[in-house]
Amino acid sequence: MTKKLKTGVVGWPINHSLSPRLHGFWLRKYGIEGEYKAYAVKPHDLENFINTMGDKEIAGLNLTVPHKESVLSFLDEVDDVAHRIGAVNMVTLRKGRLYGTNTDSYGFLTNLKENAPTWSAQKGPAVILGAGGAARAVLVSLLDDGISEILLINRTRERAEKLAEIYNDPRITVCDWHDRAQKLSAASLLVNTTTLGMTGQPSLEIDLSLLPADAVVYDIVYKPLETDLLKQAKSRGNICVDGLGMLLHQAVPAFHEWFGEKPEVDKALREYVQGKITIIGLTGSIAMGKSETAKMFERAHVPVFDSDAAVHRLLAMGGLAVDRVEKAFPGVLGPDGIDRSLLGSMVFGDDTAIKKLEAILHPMVSDSRQKFFEEAAAEGHDMVVMDVPLLFETGGEQYCDYTVVVSASAEVQRERVLARPDMTAEKFDNILKRQMSDSEKRQRADFIVLSDQGIGYAEDQVYKIIEKIRKSDAGNRI
Ligand code: ATR
Repeated sequence: MTKKLKTGVVGWPINHSLSPRLHGFWLRKYGIEGEYKAYAVKPHDLENFINTMGDKEIAGLNLTVPHKESVLSFLDEVDDVAHRIGAVNMVTLRKGRLYGTNTDSYGFLTNLKENAPTWSAQKGPAVILGAGGAARAVLVSLLDDGISEILLINRTRERAEKLAEIYNDPRITVCDWHDRAQKLSAASLLVNTTTLGMTGQPSLEIDLSLLPADAVVYDIVYKPLETDLLKQAKSRGNICVDGLGMLLHQAVPAFHEWFGEKPEVDKALREYVQGKITIIGLTGSIAMGKSETAKMFERAHVPVFDSDAAVHRLLAMGGLAVDRVEKAFPGVLGPDGIDRSLLGSMVFGDDTAIKKLEAILHPMVSDSRQKFFEEAAAEGHDMVVMDVPLLFETGGEQYCDYTVVVSASAEVQRERVLARPDMTAEKFDNILKRQMSDSEKRQRADFIVLSDQGIGYAEDQVYKIIEKIRKSDAGNRI
């Protein structure tokens, strides 16, 4: 049995990182059973955290503020690009050794080429504003791409001069901050790497009137997505590139290396990462009232993805999984598709058979969930519910923004279960043994819906949950 690969991002603070959302999206999309978590690690704890990655069974980590520079000294090997940028944003543990690299320049350039396909390094000088860590990643990528000239402009001129000294490349010229507008006249590319324009920071004041109409304006700030600089450039007809694309693309090499799949950066990912759609995981033990609660969300116009129903569709006559399941478990095909109870008896208690079945079904369920999710986003929904029976048991909560557990008293649950046909006290006890206890589920949940206080009461709770989530998510959207 292969172990679930553990990865994540380390920062301080870390709660605003978009990386778990981003990698979680891909893990779901490609049906990979991996983990990507956010780790809040203080600067003085970083060395120990990195050195004990192996003990914690963590295979790879991304680094964010304030660790990108300091981590360099804790690694066994740092590649050339990371050395030149002076920062590491990705650490991989291979055979007990720690390797560091930096994918920011890859992310910067891939995003530029994707969104401005007519731009090339031969088109003319680039103007880079800023001389911090982000500017170094941009400088390295443009120099490596064969740019003819870079005008490096920073409020504190000495910092820009220091960078020019480090790279010692005749293509870099340092200019004064107050000349920034004049220096645009021959530019093919203008990049803002300063913090100006970010939410909560002053805008970047720059007169673009000398900038050629076919120049590209790239702001690596992504909150807000459209900065004043990009608004101004857009109104003049310049090609605009935003910073969210860079963030998404810089994550590609890490996911590729750790999970073996080169992930796609597409519209659905952009929308998801921007928090345009909130995913609510709905779960609950047997007979707690999960399906009824799912209907309440649907009545409140929140679309629900029912993973059990998706499996049923895959196994029904004409379903996508029928051929492969019949081949793996000969004789299981009935008149209406796969005979689910026969299949159940074939795999019950047999770990290898269960794994074989899951290897067929999991990627297909992921696919249909992905389609559902994209359709909901296209229809303009701001949230969806994923109805997953064993949400916590399978680690599914890491892909949800919120979890809702449907619960009732143990007596009510027993009464409901035993009223079902073919159910016995023994069967029920067996099921309970295989599930996480109701009290632990309640503890882990963000919200609880009590289903034993009358239907009106439950429905009212569902409405309140939706309202609360809408309110708190409003601030998270980019
Ligand atoms: P990062 O690592 O993200 O690049 P940084 O190292 O803090 O962040 O760099 C911030 C950049 O924004 C610097 O180039 C900084 O200019 P200074 O070197 O002069 O500080 C620039 N910056 C921040 N606030 C600015 C402001 N009000 N006007 C002009 N530049 C500013």
